[in-house]
Amino acid sequence: MITKDWSMQSLPDMDQQQFEQWQSLLEDRTGMRISEQRKSFLQTSVGIRMRELGYSDYQTYFEEIMNGPAAAQEWTTLVDRLTVQETSFFRHRPSFEVVEEYLSQRVSEFNKPIEIWSVGCATGEEPYSLAMLANAVLGEQGKSQYFGVTGTDISVPALAKARQGIYSQRKLENIDSDIRDRYFRSIGQQKFEVNPGLKERVCFARVNVLELNKAPMYGMDIIFCQNLLIYFRRWRRKMIVNCLVERLVPGGLLVLGLGEIVDWKHSDLRRAYTDRALAFIKHKAAN
Ligand SMILES: C[S@@+](CC[C@H](N)C(=O)[O-])C[C@H]1O[C@@H](n2cnc3c(N)ncnc32)[C@H](O)[C@@H]1O
Repeated sequence: MITKDWSMQSLPDMDQQQFEQWQSLLEDRTGMRISEQRKSFLQTSVGIRMRELGYSDYQTYFEEIMNGPAAAQEWTTLVDRLTVQETSFFRHRPSFEVVEEYLSQRVSEFNKPIEIWSVGCATGEEPYSLAMLANAVLGEQGKSQYFGVTGTDISVPALAKARQGIYSQRKLENIDSDIRDRYFRSIGQQKFEVNPGLKERVCFARVNVLELNKAPMYGMDIIFCQNLLIYFRRWRRKMIVNCLVERLVPGGLLVLGLGEIVDWKHSDLRRAYTDRALAFIKHKAAN
């Protein structure tokens, strides 16, 4: 039932059955598991969206999401509300140091542009950080344009922000001032835009990591995937990471979030560089 003045009324509590229904839908479609402890987050996020649309009960809205005429579009909006998109430039420094070292060591070996993939890129800070790093390291060898970064995410609104490449001053506080001056320009009102030269080296696409079989990313030199797998069950984390390994070139670098996957090994990989980051190199003899 849709009631217009419902937005003025208080939110009903989701009962356990309703919670489990929403929880399974989200996990089936995105892999994300909302624990019992985060039930109030789920309830509030779904509730806010229901208020916006004028729905007064969870079941009607659920049916709309499943079978309504605008189900796909509505799901796209809701998923954006239910995903955690917290991110920042150069978020986990040791992981970026690994990428820097890898590029410095291998730059002379590359005989094609370097392909870098940021998986679960949220609003773009991570892929732009990788692009800044690649531009700087490769620039020392006169190859500053010799790379491309692809950022992928499930959230369409997050990707739209990433493509814009506009960030508040607060977001830039984590970046060294020389890098900030080199790669951003002020556009007023304490906003900064990524320079066009860097922007054109970065592209964005919607990819659900549960559907990596549909993703056209192959032959990647570096795959960077952080703060995404933590929301998934263990078996799913392993499945996704195994798929990512297939997308790496022999000799390629995989960087995951420290502690995000444990008791996982892959015969094509060796652990690399440092204990402060979770990085692996694919054997040169691997396919
Ligand atoms: C916490 S952010 C991590 C951003 C960035 N990687 C970082 O470490 O700062 C997690 C991102 O994963 C995305 N995500 C969640 N489930 C996904 C899925 N099934 N496929 C692709 N992206 C997903 C979310 O939309 C969100 O933008």
